[in-house]
Amino acid sequence: MIETERLLLREYTPDDFDALYEIVSDPETMQHYPAPFDEARTKRWIDWNLENYRQYGFGLWAVVLKETGEFIGDCGITIQNIDGEMLPEIGYHIHKKYWRRGFAKEAARAVRDWVFQNTDYDTIYSYMKYTNVGSYSTAMANGMKKVKEYPDPKNTISYAYAIARDEWKKLKEQQV
Ligand SMILES: CC(C)(COP(=O)(O)OP(=O)(O)OC[C@H]1O[C@@H](n2cnc3c(N)ncnc32)[C@H](O)[C@@H]1OP(=O)(O)O)[C@@H](O)C(=O)NCCC(=O)NCCS
Repeated sequence: MIETERLLLREYTPDDFDALYEIVSDPETMQHYPAPFDEARTKRWIDWNLENYRQYGFGLWAVVLKETGEFIGDCGITIQNIDGEMLPEIGYHIHKKYWRRGFAKEAARAVRDWVFQNTDYDTIYSYMKYTNVGSYSTAMANGMKKVKEYPDPKNTISYAYAIARDEWKKLKEQQV
């Protein structure tokens, strides 16, 4: 469990299905994906993360408002194919009624810190379709810089953002 000022990040459970489906079946939210998720795809998303926890000890975690316990999205780390390499990637999805309130940034920064503190990875990535301004703005707000643009069948063009462990250490020193 990761705690931030306003959020708790906890493991998914099958009971999160309805709240997750509301987010990932929404065409506006999923405009940078090949298609919104149907029920079967949403169930596979939860199952994939339960398997990630077992296999890696991490995955996408449910993002919950501390004040009310409401599930508002997910954020976490998974292993993704980025231009042919399997790399640790921070991902995020937030319910659109809560967009632009700093929740993705708050969750992503906590995940970034968790990864550098609890794994040996020396670089963490986020990647997205080139049109996904919200996603790459969140990556930049997480201290990441663009490291790659590459053709990607599912995204036409993907952008990859990254932060290295030494850059993260410098960021943390500046914040103290
Ligand atoms: C991407 C997403 C998670 C951002 O969530 P959010 O909670 O609204 O983001 P935040 O409020 O924390 O914003 C983080 C930064 O991005 C900027 N930002 C967020 N959405 C933006 C948008 N649509 N256009 C421009 N900038 C945006 C914010 O201004 C902020 O930057 P700042 O710190 O410099 O002010 C949300 O838009 C979402 O769920 N999108 C759909 C799912 C998705 O595409 N996920 C990514 C898959 S690769």
